[in-house]
Amino acid sequence: MKFDILTLFPAMFEGPLTESIIRRATDKGLLDIRLHQLRDYATDRHKVVDDAPYGGGDGMVMKVEPLAACIEAVKADRPKARIILTTPRGRLFDDAAARELAGEEELVIICGRYEGVDERVRELFVDDEFSIGDVVLTGGELAAMMMVDAIARFIPGVLGSPGSAETDSFGNGLLEYPHYTRPAEFRGLAVPGVLLSGNHAEVARWRRRKAIEKTLQVRPDLLRQADLTDEERRWLAEFEACSR
Ligand code: ADE
Repeated sequence: MKFDILTLFPAMFEGPLTESIIRRATDKGLLDIRLHQLRDYATDRHKVVDDAPYGGGDGMVMKVEPLAACIEAVKADRPKARIILTTPRGRLFDDAAARELAGEEELVIICGRYEGVDERVRELFVDDEFSIGDVVLTGGELAAMMMVDAIARFIPGVLGSPGSAETDSFGNGLLEYPHYTRPAEFRGLAVPGVLLSGNHAEVARWRRRKAIEKTLQVRPDLLRQADLTDEERRWLAEFEACSR
């Protein structure tokens, strides 16, 4: 999958997109991530990329001309690209969105900065606006990194075990169950016996029960979409009764 990221701060991407799983996927040719410095597309001598907002108010707005020039240059090479803008005004970027975007061949991500981006960029070029949550960042770069990372997990071959993207939290509408590895006891805390039992059906049952309990405690809103069996609904009722 091809990612083109338009940013004023390409150096920020050093590390998150050049290490670990993303690095391996790039080396294998599964990901092709290119960074574009928006300032290179400014047309004036001082390479200005922002200006004061019409109508007054705080902050600066990213100018339309450098963005338009950069997007058009990238699009010449990426005719099928879906164009995304990172902004707190966007639709929530969640697991479903990551899965959906992983189906694209080419994705352009524009990292918003300052108070925002001239609205005409949206009107002319942007297909979707995404926010990574109800929180305001200093710019869209971290949001773009999160998006690439989360999308990459759904690209076949990126994760070591193909099922991981499905079973991890949110993949099934539940938060993940707790994990343990050796030693079997640490500072008086023992690993739950069922995990040492070798009984795979019981392990799976325990994990579902724990996942439901955790989701109820931390993100009860997710339970509305979870696909639960009759037995699991009874567990949920028990946990709800205990928490009252
Ligand atoms: N830029 C600033 N805050 C953001 C957010 N929450 N999501 C995406 N881009 C942002």
